[in-house]
Amino acid sequence: MSAITNLAASMDSMHQIFIKAAADIGDTTSLEQLDAVDAALLGRGSSISESRRGLGAIKDPEERRNTGRAINDVANQIKDLVASRRATLAATEEATALAADSVDVTLPGRMPPRGTQHLITQTIAEIVDIFVSLGYTMATGPEAETEFYNFTALNIPRTHPSRLESDTLYLDYGDEDDEVLLRTHTSPMQARYMEIHDPPVYVVVPGKVFRADATDSTHSPVFHQVEGLAVDENITFADLKGTLATFAREFFGKGTKVKFIPHYFPFTEPSAEMHAYSNGRWIELMGCGMVNPAVFEHVGYDPDKVTGFAFGMGPERLAIIRHGITDAHGNNDLRPLLDPDERILGQYL
Ligand code: DAH
Repeated sequence: MSAITNLAASMDSMHQIFIKAAADIGDTTSLEQLDAVDAALLGRGSSISESRRGLGAIKDPEERRNTGRAINDVANQIKDLVASRRATLAATEEATALAADSVDVTLPGRMPPRGTQHLITQTIAEIVDIFVSLGYTMATGPEAETEFYNFTALNIPRTHPSRLESDTLYLDYGDEDDEVLLRTHTSPMQARYMEIHDPPVYVVVPGKVFRADATDSTHSPVFHQVEGLAVDENITFADLKGTLATFAREFFGKGTKVKFIPHYFPFTEPSAEMHAYSNGRWIELMGCGMVNPAVFEHVGYDPDKVTGFAFGMGPERLAIIRHGITDAHGNNDLRPLLDPDERILGQYL
């Protein structure tokens, strides 16, 4: 074969090598594959390296040089293709890895929703705080109470209808006064507190109370009360009025008007209901009165030495009035306070 023909033949086969190399490189889908193809095309035993080894057999120096140059050209072109494919694959692999690991540390954190105290608990705390700021202390007492403390010590007569099973939930039947019941009010703590504390007494008692009532917009078998008791020398009805009016203004706002309407409770004499003017009408807030001397006698206080006043209020009622908690028709309703769906109560916090 002439030198020219030889050269043409090797140029032709170099072209074939390049065409196949370009196809192989283009087919790779990962850097790992590309490494393998790179080695197969340019490494030991590849057509390129075999061609280079064959150069020594070409006698004509000019032809040898030209053939060598042709091989180098193709090898360089293949290297360029590998390099550009490598850049493309590296970019794709990085993008895929980033997408898979898409935690953006610069985003603000997600706050878990924070719990709060129940509105009734908050209301009780606020009521107690107001009285503590007036110098009262706080005490709590048993929910399972004897008939003696719940009724008898409070001068509630044997025949009073509130003692009936239709009103009061009894836990244990026994002798009169030893019967155990769920307290129907926090007033029994008046007697319990005075039995173990000498006057002067300034105390508030929050807690749960129980009555045999079905749940409706104004009743629940379980609800709360805050009891108050002040006993000292020379306490008068004016002290009662001043204290409770101060409370109403702290709780509902400075300008709140209050009035006292005569009422009857066996354990206070005289007794009253305190009403407050709110949203265009008078609303009953609590029962109150001057401690009945009969109650002092039950606990061993001398009614000639001390006088006092007492009051009892319902935090549910106060919360409903202040927050305007109503049913769909706009009527006051305590049931939202008992709803376990926090979206309901969340509106009032
Ligand atoms: N114990 C009464 C009730 O449950 C509320 C009450 C009224 C408490 C007058 C008092 C009071 O201390 O003086 O309806």
